[in-house]
Amino acid sequence: FLKCFHSQTNLSVDSNSSSSSNVIFTTNGSSYTSVLQSSAQNLRFATASTPKPQLIVRPLHESHIQAAVICSRKNSINIRIRSGGHDYEGLSYVSNIPFVIIDLANLRSIKIDVENKTAWVESGATLGELYHAIAEESNTYGFPAGSCPTMGVGGHLGGGGFGTIFRKYGLAADNVIDARIVDVNGRIFDRKSTGEELFWAIRGGGGASFGIIFAWKINLVPVPSIVTVFDIGKTLEPAGATKLLQKWQLVADKLSDTLFLDVVIAGNSNNTIAASFRALFLGVSEELLSTMEESFPELGVERKDCTEMSWIQSVLYFAGFSTRESYDVLLNRTNPYKSSFKAKSDYVKEPISEKGLQGLWKILGEEESGYMIWTPYGGRMSEISEFEIPFPHRSGNLYLIQYMVTWEAEEETEEHVNWITRLYEYITPFVSKNPRSAYLNYRDLDLGINMNENESYEQASVWGLKYFNSNFKRLAQIKAQVDPSDFFWYKQSIPLFLS
Ligand code: FDA
Repeated sequence: FLKCFHSQTNLSVDSNSSSSSNVIFTTNGSSYTSVLQSSAQNLRFATASTPKPQLIVRPLHESHIQAAVICSRKNSINIRIRSGGHDYEGLSYVSNIPFVIIDLANLRSIKIDVENKTAWVESGATLGELYHAIAEESNTYGFPAGSCPTMGVGGHLGGGGFGTIFRKYGLAADNVIDARIVDVNGRIFDRKSTGEELFWAIRGGGGASFGIIFAWKINLVPVPSIVTVFDIGKTLEPAGATKLLQKWQLVADKLSDTLFLDVVIAGNSNNTIAASFRALFLGVSEELLSTMEESFPELGVERKDCTEMSWIQSVLYFAGFSTRESYDVLLNRTNPYKSSFKAKSDYVKEPISEKGLQGLWKILGEEESGYMIWTPYGGRMSEISEFEIPFPHRSGNLYLIQYMVTWEAEEETEEHVNWITRLYEYITPFVSKNPRSAYLNYRDLDLGINMNENESYEQASVWGLKYFNSNFKRLAQIKAQVDPSDFFWYKQSIPLFLS
């Protein structure tokens, strides 16, 4: 691989040196471990027994990505593509077969074009860097992507990507208008040269099955100069969180698309449940208060609960920073809250009954570090066709549930994973069925995995239909065309549809 890489790039690559031009990091180099761990988000996959890559390539230029693909293929080495390293199951930096990581952390330039309301952003940029770059140019444009600023643009846009303004503007992937991609032969394509099929697949189909997307052209979206937030906490008793959540289930997806109102629900050892109702409103507090009074008066939102701020301050707010801080904190690429975790997801199409909720509280109360986030759908999400991009969860979904549990010590893994599995089993009757849908960016290997290369489409449908519904077949057809040797294989890569 090293010889091949040298001949392709002319970079000096010496497997005994600590690094080669800061592009290749080999296992015996002094920076190998820190580069490997730099963005690995889930500490469940940062243990001594976790399989490690034979080397890490950190391209400084697109030609280095091309060389890495050509040389991996030539040497039959599996690759892992990493942008921000936030994959829930560590699929961007772990593999059970010999592999190299192509880590795009150094490809992170961002060019904002306010006049045309677009931007080009490289995959290794974090969302925080993207939001920061937009705010430097304008306070009336934003981008509808996720809340955690250390997430990578590459994985997030490739898997969908939602945040606090997605009810108004759709997913991050809905707002991609062009992309640059290195294919299995090491060639570079953009939307025009690759054609609409591949361009369709990489927006929500999980880019890593098809190639390495190293830059994205996105639409900037208008945001008002003042937005309003609140975060109202309620407990089961005496605040009656159950009744509020029953009402929330009836109204949250029908609220104005300018209002995002999600709920974080957590249990604790005293068997009490705390629900946090968090809102972002694209407008001033007076308007928010009248919207809430009209549609959800039971929550009792008052003026003192509301804080007006700029959109970029709301990004800080939802990322857990003080809004008084400079938005330069968004440039910090390391998430200070790393832990081991396991997550799962569900879509809800009918409100969960009171009895169903009571059972849910019981299980939630048994795990101190377990919680759920209920994210309302509706608005723009219901207007976009389920076939527009591979992400299919559109009209008909009331909300998305994310179940999450975190822990510190490796030996606690089984106990916490068992808990979340039990929770997921319990809630089965109340969530979407046939297929039981899941969100790709909340990757969950329990849904099913590819056991080896050339897994059949039928076998992979077990998990593929859950993420993509009927778009799965089209993804598999595109895969067969663009990667017939299944070079971009991983545990949940799209299989080839061979008719
Ligand atoms: P990472 O680099 O791990 O890649 C994820 C997947 O994409 C891997 O399969 C990888 O191979 C592939 N990939 C990465 N870059 C690629 C490229 N350039 N070309 C081709 N394939 C590529 N989601 C959400 O929608 N809204 C949210 O608010 C949040 N919040 C959140 C918080 C935290 C703390 C975490 C850990 C995760 C989230 N997520 C989320 C989920 C997040 O969207 C998901 O994990 C993304 O895939 C992360 O993208 P990264 O580039 O960071 O991941």
